[in-house]
Amino acid sequence: MAKQRHPAFVCQECGAVYNRWKGKCEACGGWNTIVEETGSASPMAGPAATRPSRAKGRIFPLEGLQGETKEAPRTPSGIAELDRVTGGGFVHGSIILLGGDPGIGKSTLLMQASAALAMRGQRVAYISGEEAVAQVRLRAERLGLGQAPVELASETNVEDIIATLSQGRPPALAIIDSIQTMWTETVESAPGTVTQVRGSAQALIRFAKTTGTAVILVGHVTKDGQIAGPRVVEHMVDAVVSFEGDTGHHFRIMRAVKNRFGPTDEIGVFEMSDQGLREVPNPSELFLAGRDMATAGTAVFAGMEGTRPLLVEIQALVAPSSLGTPRRAVVGWDQSRLSMVLAVLEAHGGLKLGMHDVYLNVAGGLRITEPAADLAAAAALVSSLSGNPLPPDTVYFGEMGLSGAIRPVAQEQARLKEAAKLGFSSAVSPQPRLDKGKGSKSERLPLATSAIGHITDLVANIAARRRKAS
Ligand code: TYD
Ligand code: MG
Repeated sequence: MAKQRHPAFVCQECGAVYNRWKGKCEACGGWNTIVEETGSASPMAGPAATRPSRAKGRIFPLEGLQGETKEAPRTPSGIAELDRVTGGGFVHGSIILLGGDPGIGKSTLLMQASAALAMRGQRVAYISGEEAVAQVRLRAERLGLGQAPVELASETNVEDIIATLSQGRPPALAIIDSIQTMWTETVESAPGTVTQVRGSAQALIRFAKTTGTAVILVGHVTKDGQIAGPRVVEHMVDAVVSFEGDTGHHFRIMRAVKNRFGPTDEIGVFEMSDQGLREVPNPSELFLAGRDMATAGTAVFAGMEGTRPLLVEIQALVAPSSLGTPRRAVVGWDQSRLSMVLAVLEAHGGLKLGMHDVYLNVAGGLRITEPAADLAAAAALVSSLSGNPLPPDTVYFGEMGLSGAIRPVAQEQARLKEAAKLGFSSAVSPQPRLDKGKGSKSERLPLATSAIGHITDLVANIAARRRKAS
């Protein structure tokens, strides 16, 4: 196959290729993400392109589904929150993409994981394409990890990196920080372009698969598309882990977006401190710290993140609007979910929100995706509008239908147990499912629940609190 020499225009977000420049990528909708790249534009260029063509293929053995299977061999990192997200450690020969905003703490976390592994006698290589060896060393010293036998290098050429790492015992773990700074000789584009990022990732994936080294690629998520985003290699890697949190808060949440060897709904919670990232084994305590209990408009949601229950405060502010079209702003939750809850509250709860600005915030920088948060959000909204604080010792959970019916959610027991553990004494939750509604079951609930079948019950409950208070 001859290499294409004519220029190609490649979207740096999604990798779509065009034959002329456009302002907007039609594939991903990104603006100003298309950049001219010379050299071969085919993502499959590289060894495949240079391989001599053969008239006849080599015959390889085909295997059946039955056969010897083993649990994927793993190396636990020793950082429990990280192992929770990866599904128990780094699988040998697997490749993980760790994406996140610049400055969120990716290099810090990976240095901590590398040091922990190296201290246990594993060979670990940390290749930085962004920082000089002295800088990386300085950070390790600041983290108190200066003594760990991690092999350091500041290098960006993928062929050189692979040749160096292939000497001696293959490393258990190799960190490439970051994939966007790497370049391979097999493609001609500039470093940071889609073609280079893909080519480099492919070479490193081949290295991981042949040596059994677990490779972590760091990928910066960029908003302006100046460098190729990590999305262009997501399909090639075994796991995609995102590290999020806003730099204004000190919580950092790690989430597996894709995982060929483990669950994708587990989160790991860290706290950024002057000693680097600290694990948070009990995140509910952290998310509820500093809670303002006497104010109207806050409700505690008993949520689940994977197998772990997580209590978090939902704050609402409903205030008369001076605008023709009132504002609806939401942080940490889905905007359309808020619109739905507001519509149901108006249609079935009798609330008048058309002349009010509505703000909803999930405290601590967490992002909630569970529909079970509907009831807690509704409670916070009703509380703010009516000016009645909710009882401080109560948690809320339940999914709301468009009819205003509150529907049961999964893992009720785990939610209630977590709430009881943190000192809550009651829960406002959906009616238990009919098929499970045996008397003995409800007696074993760890705290008092008041079951709500319809949104009108919630509104009436909160209004009743005002009558009691006055
Ligand atoms: P870093 O790991 O360099 O981020 P990334 O690799 O994702 O770009 O983290 C940089 C931020 O972390 C920086 O703003 C300072 C902060 N930080 C701490 O708060 N404590 C620490 O011990 C360290 C090493 C960094
Ligand atoms: Mg970094």
